[in-house]
Amino acid sequence: MFKDKTILLIISGGIAAYKSLELIRGLRKNNARVRCILTKGGSEFVTPMSVSALSEHEVYTDLWSLKDEREMGHIQLSREADLIIVAPASANLIAKMAHGLADDLASTTLLASDKPILLAPAMNHMMWNNPATQDNIKTLTHRNIALIGPVSGEMACGETGLGRMGEPDDILCAIQGFFYDRPLNGLKAIVTSGPTFEPIDPVRFIGNRSSGKQGHAIATALVRAGADVHYISGSTHLPPPSGATEIKVETAQEMLKAVEHTLPADIFIGTAAVCDWTIDQTSTHKIKKEGDPPQLILKETSDILKTVATHKDRPHLVIGFGAETENLKENATNKLKRKNCDWLVGNDVSETQNVFGQDENQVCLFKYTDDRKDITYEEWDRMSKTRVAQKLVDEIIMTFEQTNRDNIHDITDTKNIATQ
Ligand SMILES: Cc1cc2nc3c(=O)[nH]c(=O)nc-3n(C[C@H](O)[C@H](O)[C@H](O)COP(=O)(O)O)c2cc1C
Repeated sequence: MFKDKTILLIISGGIAAYKSLELIRGLRKNNARVRCILTKGGSEFVTPMSVSALSEHEVYTDLWSLKDEREMGHIQLSREADLIIVAPASANLIAKMAHGLADDLASTTLLASDKPILLAPAMNHMMWNNPATQDNIKTLTHRNIALIGPVSGEMACGETGLGRMGEPDDILCAIQGFFYDRPLNGLKAIVTSGPTFEPIDPVRFIGNRSSGKQGHAIATALVRAGADVHYISGSTHLPPPSGATEIKVETAQEMLKAVEHTLPADIFIGTAAVCDWTIDQTSTHKIKKEGDPPQLILKETSDILKTVATHKDRPHLVIGFGAETENLKENATNKLKRKNCDWLVGNDVSETQNVFGQDENQVCLFKYTDDRKDITYEEWDRMSKTRVAQKLVDEIIMTFEQTNRDNIHDITDTKNIATQ
């Protein structure tokens, strides 16, 4: 997968450094040349010996090593690499990158780099959510530095939250995306993501449990494939996918307006969990608790997927998502027909599947055949949301490659007819 590619892996001081050893194995297994820098903090968690043995190369640790600097200096380390990965990326190293500090080999190499950089942050959830770290992440994503993770779950310290490093397999998947020849270059994609919140009054709303993780992963994979991505997201805790244009919305109506405003596009992927109903008359003041509970009158929200699929500027490929708690196959097929989309990703969100807010998903892909007479159905194994995103984007790439081939044939056929 990574033949002839050189990956520079920077391992900084986090408990997740042990996972980097597995990452090195995965990279080597896929034929990448791996060069490693271990920060002082990093070497408290994994030994230079293990990193060197697995990468089958010497490890670089010291900016001031005369031998290293003569043989492979900090500039050369970055020039030689096709991609730099920081995994785990400690809060400290992230802060140094955001502020342009260069006080050790890792930070100096990163500052001197002219190569794409992928960060896999890993830290306690409080460190991750600290406004200082969040500001630093914003700064770095604005500089087009890509992120994979962090993901949520139980941490080494026993606490639970967002901050765990992505799994090595997900990082490999993200790396794979970097080496595409940007096959979706020149195509514009709209991805809706997250929940919508429908206000009851200025402080209360009805909403749903969508975390936005799947849409975020898809937008990220599309960016890596070279698409011009417009990410229209309801309220989530996720940073904007780096390289995408983010439009924040709250209600279904705002999401629809943003989508219509962003059309025309080549690809539309509606992963957002749009509320089906909104409150008919939103109260302008906080409804008092005293007295009878309010009788909420609901009305249907606009159908964003159907609006896009029947729009005069309908994208070439319209993909919907359908969360179902029962009869997935039947309900998803019906939704595909009803909404007039091209593909529908059905996911089972019944309690047994434990999907909401998690990092894994179990989906089925329903597709209209080219003549739209039939619907095909493919069940995917349970896998990480990053993998689902990558697999979906791979399918999209194949479809556009096929369309291009067909168009070329059409042009050739027309020419043949013209010359007959
Ligand atoms: C046991 C232990 C675990 C740590 N785990 C993390 C971590 O997961 N993420 C992180 O950002 N910092 C973590 N730290 C703090 C960093 O190691 C510390 O900020 C260090 O200065 C980072 O150095 P570096 O960025 O140069 O590698 C941990 C520290 C200790 C003692």
